[in-house]
Amino acid sequence: MDHSATREEALARIAATQDLDTLEKLRVEYLGKQGSISGLLKTLGAMSPEERQIAGPQIHALREGVTDALAARKAALENAALEAQLASETVDLSLPAPESPRGTIHPVSQVMGELAEIFADMGFAVATGPEIEDDWHNFTALNIPESHPARAMHDTFYFPDKDGEGRDMLLRTHTSPVQIRAMLAQGAPIRIIAPGRVYRSDSDATHTPMFHQVEGLVIDKGITLGHLKWTLETFLKAFFEREDIVLRLRPSYFPFTEPSVEVDVGFALVNGKRVLGGSGDAPGHGWMELLGSGMVNRKVISAGGLDPDEWQGFAFGVGVDRLAMLKYGMDDLRAFFDGDVRWLAHYGFSPLDVPTLSAGVGARA
Ligand code: PHE
Repeated sequence: MDHSATREEALARIAATQDLDTLEKLRVEYLGKQGSISGLLKTLGAMSPEERQIAGPQIHALREGVTDALAARKAALENAALEAQLASETVDLSLPAPESPRGTIHPVSQVMGELAEIFADMGFAVATGPEIEDDWHNFTALNIPESHPARAMHDTFYFPDKDGEGRDMLLRTHTSPVQIRAMLAQGAPIRIIAPGRVYRSDSDATHTPMFHQVEGLVIDKGITLGHLKWTLETFLKAFFEREDIVLRLRPSYFPFTEPSVEVDVGFALVNGKRVLGGSGDAPGHGWMELLGSGMVNRKVISAGGLDPDEWQGFAFGVGVDRLAMLKYGMDDLRAFFDGDVRWLAHYGFSPLDVPTLSAGVGARA
């Protein structure tokens, strides 16, 4: 039997297909289980050997021809589809890559980084202490007596349980307990700063129940108020990037320093905004209270396990959030801790904008 008509028709239909679905239908029609060519193949079984010898090669040739034509048409259609896709989806490799979303550094973290850089340049290491403190480190060792108002429930967050040594546990109210921990842990001499979170039950536009401080402590021989003033001046000039920062030291009182000094900085009122720089006594200027400090009280040096006749030192404590507000111009402290990404996008810092003072504090213009 001659299959050339079948073959011609099949090849013509295959060549005429315009899409892969139609082509697949043709494949099933000819070569599927119930397909017409599959049916022809099945007829071979019923033939005599002589008949089969003639018909077999013809049917197989038909099947092969159709199989090849299907494969060729499939490749052609796929190729055409790819070409069409490439033609419609041009990629302009010269376009800038879309910007991927990037987080920002919180101003508090940024300022802590700046402080660590500035003080490292003056030979200070960074020390840390726990935010859950015991009342000995937070108060007693710092010469804060039982009757001191700072210990009152309404100022401090106490835990219901005591620690293993029967001490009351609380969220530290300042970073000063790190002074005690540093002295006990490393002895003298000491030059450290201790940045971290502190807690007080206080809440309004300029107070949040949690805020950040950085403590400074120097213990050595022959340390005087002069060293304290120079250190603070050098630090504030580097931090605010102004040479005209003027400090005013005012007598004050802290149980853990003697004498104690409150440090004010001069500012000018420019368009209703306070801009640090210049003497606070100049016309149109004023003094702003910035930080607490003083010479470390002898009792505190003793509590730290050192001999106050041999070692002296100074300490200071300053609000990190307040420093950030002054330097970068935010006006509501509470926004620091709201977690609003719009605020962060505005005031946050690029991860690549890391603070560096590679030229050194002393080399600053
Ligand atoms: N701990 C004090 C405060 O939180 C600040 C301070 C630190 C004062 C060190 C003197 C010396 O207000």
